[in-house]
Amino acid sequence: MDVLHTVADLTAWRERAGSGCVGLVPTMGNLHDGHRALLDAAVAQCDWAVASIFVNPLQFGPQEDLAAYPRTPAADYEVLAEAGMDAVFAPSVEQMYPHGGESATRIRVDGLSDILCGAQRLGHFEGVATVVAKLFHLVRPHYAYFGEKDYQQLIIIRRLVSDLCMDVNVVGVPTVRETDRLALSSRNRYLQPAQRHVAPGLAAALQVCIDRLRAGERNFTTLEHIGMQRLRVAGFTPEYFAVRDADLAAPHERTREFRVLAAAVLGKARLIDNMGLTVSG
Ligand code: PAJ
Repeated sequence: MDVLHTVADLTAWRERAGSGCVGLVPTMGNLHDGHRALLDAAVAQCDWAVASIFVNPLQFGPQEDLAAYPRTPAADYEVLAEAGMDAVFAPSVEQMYPHGGESATRIRVDGLSDILCGAQRLGHFEGVATVVAKLFHLVRPHYAYFGEKDYQQLIIIRRLVSDLCMDVNVVGVPTVRETDRLALSSRNRYLQPAQRHVAPGLAAALQVCIDRLRAGERNFTTLEHIGMQRLRVAGFTPEYFAVRDADLAAPHERTREFRVLAAAVLGKARLIDNMGLTVSG
């Protein structure tokens, strides 16, 4: 596996890939089995599979865990090589933002960036969209892989690609969960043992909502209130519990594809999760 640290290294690697099908898996490292599902999809589908590892300062708020975010490059390279990746791009902040840690040119997907997680994390999705647009521009992938775990991020990237006429197929990969259904996340390591027992309550609350939607419940406000209340009783400090359609718009009576999303704080961890439901029409 080629380990690429500079934009020049990456550009040279991309030249070598030539006209072959190239797949990109953007990550912030500290790889777990959730990331692994994306890597496996890229290796299976593409001639050349490259992952990026970059803890992107632009997408962290001033009060967030940029400094504390786990950085485990040696272990990550092992995971990537074992998955069969051809290359990893692991640039420094200076490589990605040569004019300083702040990028003057930013990509903003209006509307979709201000709701749900974006309402609490101001500027977060602008940071995500900017770095992903840069990676797409550098790698020119045919396929790019994103987890449904970060559903709003996935929808924003799809919209970015469509609005900027980028020739990239965005592939959404289903969320990988622990046996108790807690979604895998690098931030789960912030949970104390007692909190770790509470954490699956987030997926459980989403599942209850999905089950009620499947049973025909269409009072979305009530479902959201019940979800918030469930999370509070379980010991979370919920940020939002939202019933939406697959594009994150408000659902209505004839909606067929639902997405239920929630974010909640538990101790030092801010956890997010979501589930989808398609009902036959
Ligand atoms: P990161 O949190 O490292 O996640 C990288 C990719 O792995 C994302 O597409 C995320 O949705 C996916 N992922 C994480 N946990 C998952 C799980 N349990 N199941 C399935 N997929 C999972 O998301 C980011 O990094 C960054 O915002 C990034 C897109 C790299 C831009 O900086």
